[in-house]
Formats: sequence, C-alpha cells, structure tokens
Amino acid sequence: MKEDNQITVGIIFGGISNEHDVSIKSAKNIYKAFLKPRNKRYKIKLFYINKYGIWFKNQTSKSVLTNNEKSFTNQRFTSKKINFIEDIDFDGIDAWFPIIHGSNGEDGTIQGFLKLTQKPFVGAGVLGSALGMDKIAMKLIFSHLKIPQVNYFPIQLNKSSTKKDLEILTTHIMEKLNFPIFIKPANSGSSLGISRVNKKNEIIQALQLASEIDSRIIAEEGYDVRELECGVIGKSNLETSSIGEVKYETDWFDFESKYSIQNEIIIPATIDKSTERNIKDLAIKSCKALNIFGFARADFFLEKKTNKIFLNEINTIPGFTNKSMFPMLWKASGLEIDQLVAKLVDIAIDS
Ligand SMILES: Nc1ncnc2c1ncn2[C@@H]1O[C@H](COP(=O)(O)OP(=O)(O)O)[C@@H](O)[C@H]1O
Ligand SMILES: [Mg+2]
Repeated sequence: MKEDNQITVGIIFGGISNEHDVSIKSAKNIYKAFLKPRNKRYKIKLFYINKYGIWFKNQTSKSVLTNNEKSFTNQRFTSKKINFIEDIDFDGIDAWFPIIHGSNGEDGTIQGFLKLTQKPFVGAGVLGSALGMDKIAMKLIFSHLKIPQVNYFPIQLNKSSTKKDLEILTTHIMEKLNFPIFIKPANSGSSLGISRVNKKNEIIQALQLASEIDSRIIAEEGYDVRELECGVIGKSNLETSSIGEVKYETDWFDFESKYSIQNEIIIPATIDKSTERNIKDLAIKSCKALNIFGFARADFFLEKKTNKIFLNEINTIPGFTNKSMFPMLWKASGLEIDQLVAKLVDIAIDS
C-alpha cells in the first residue's frame, strides 16, 4: 500500500536524440540520488525510451541504468505496432522527471505528451522548452530584449538548396560575420553538428554537416572567451546557483571535451562581483523571457579582450552526468544532488 506522503516519480530517459547516451548517464545519477536515505518518500518508476522510440517497463529500464544493458537500445517496432505506450504502466505516477537531452526531450515534444497525462513534470513546459532548444528563436527573443549576445546570422536551408545556394549563403555569412565563425544546427546539443571555421572554403562543408541535424542553422561570430555557467531553479520565484567556469584544452568546447577529455570546472568562477551580479540577473531575465522554469542552466561567454558578458544559451534539460556542471553548481550552493532532485520534484508538484 502507498504511504500517505509517498510520491511516485517517473524518470523518463534515453529517447530518439543524438544525446541518447548522455541521457542514460544523467538518469543514472538522478536515480541514485533518489535512492539516498533522505529521499525515502520518493518511489521511483523508470521509463527507458530506446533510440527508435520504443518505451520499456520499469524492470527493463532499471537494467539499462544499473546493468548497462544495451540489448534494447536499437530494437525497432514491427511495422504493425505504433502504439508505443500499449504495455507501459503509467498508473500511480505523481510527477514526471524527464531527463532526455536534445531533440524530443528538450524541445517541448515529451513535455506536450506529459502535459496530456495531467501530472506535473520537472522542467519547463512546451513553450519554454521549444524556445530554449531552438537557437534561432531564442536569439531573436533575446535580441528583442537587448540581452547581450555575439553577432549571429540565422539560416534556413531546405531540401532543394543547391551548391550555388550554399555559395551565395557563404558570401552573406562573410559579409555579416568575422572569422572564426561557428556554424551550428539550431536544434541540437552537446556541440554535435557544430563546426568552427576559419576560412571561406570551410563554410559549405560546415553548413552541410549542420544540415544533417537541422535545416535551421545559425552562424555566429567566434569570440575569444571564458565560459561561465549558472544554474536556475524555481517557478514563480527563480533562484540562481553559484557561477562556474569550464576550462578545456581544445580550441572550443566540442563533444570530446564535454564527455571524454578531462576538462576543469572551477566553482565559484573567479570573476568580480559586478560580473557575477550581471550573470545572475541575465540568467533570470532570459529564463523569464522564454517562459523557462523548473530547472535550467544558463551559459555565458566572457570575452577575454573586453570582459564583456554575452548570453550563449539556456539549456532546459541540463546534464546530470558525473562531469556535468549543473549538479556541481548546486552542490556548491548548498544542495547535495539528493536534495536537488527532491527539490525539483517538489517545485513541479507545488506550483
Ligand atoms: N560564438 C562563439 N564564440 C566562441 N565560442 C563559441 C561560440 N559559439 C559556440 N562556441 C563554442 O562551442 C561550444 C558549443 O556551442 P553551443 O552553442 O553552446 O552549442 P550546444 O548547444 O551544442 O552546447 C560552446 O560551449 C563554445 O565552446
Ligand atoms: Mg552549450
């Protein structure tokens, strides 16, 4: 029988996303955090979604997290079956904790689905998730509010875009931006599909790489920067964490330096008080502007030459892996990971 104050949390992870494996790593840590003695009042049900969108029951999902079970990852539907939740038991869930990074998990897709279950869920809703994911939509809103950002140029390719179109586009990009230039898919994450280009003849290849992920693309002027990150949690009242800095050996924070190569995280970042205040204010202002709540990580660039702060992006499903900044930031702000995950569920339920 269910005890009175017990809350059943459904953790959803994996997903049709190029950050599938990152999600599994994040979910492992969140699951472990809920098993800590302080979190006895939470009962956990796990929902693994594999790379092709098949949902798995609690026991199977648990084996993915605790035994590194990989045999379900690439299993596909038979063409006859499209009812992906047919055998899945959603009963008794009091709150959802979706921890799928990138497409389908961070862009409003799963949020729309969870909204239909009429149960609260951790993180932003459909609108905030979609806006936070799409680098073009996000930047246009920030420009409107005069939130400082690097120079950028939005691009929409389509299936019929020819080599000639890409050449014309290259000329436009070079008219607007100085090298180095970052070419990014508008909807991606973990630096996947991003190139840093230094020459005109590298642009077309970078556009093609980005377009494999999204036809919406953003080109940005590359600055020589320090990278600072700030955690945000809350709903009507948003709170900010300490600010952290990430340092890496590579030229920029690419996929390898995010997850394989050792990077250095410094919390609190060595910055002056006014920069710290500025970052925290911008973190809250930008989350409010996009209707983002629950939890988020706001990422900033501090230009070395000028000491100017630019908002890079808001991540609405921040990483929870062993190397992830978000839980470290909150730990430095006084919340251990078990307290953090509990607080996130309570925020989702209470507000
Ligand atoms: N305009 C820029 N100037 C300097 N570095 C950049 C710029 N844009 C991206 N980068 C580098 O690329 C990384 C990934 O870019 P980002 O836009 O944050 O993509 P993602 O959403 O995949 O994390 C950044 O953390 C930074 O190291
Ligand atoms: Mg980023």
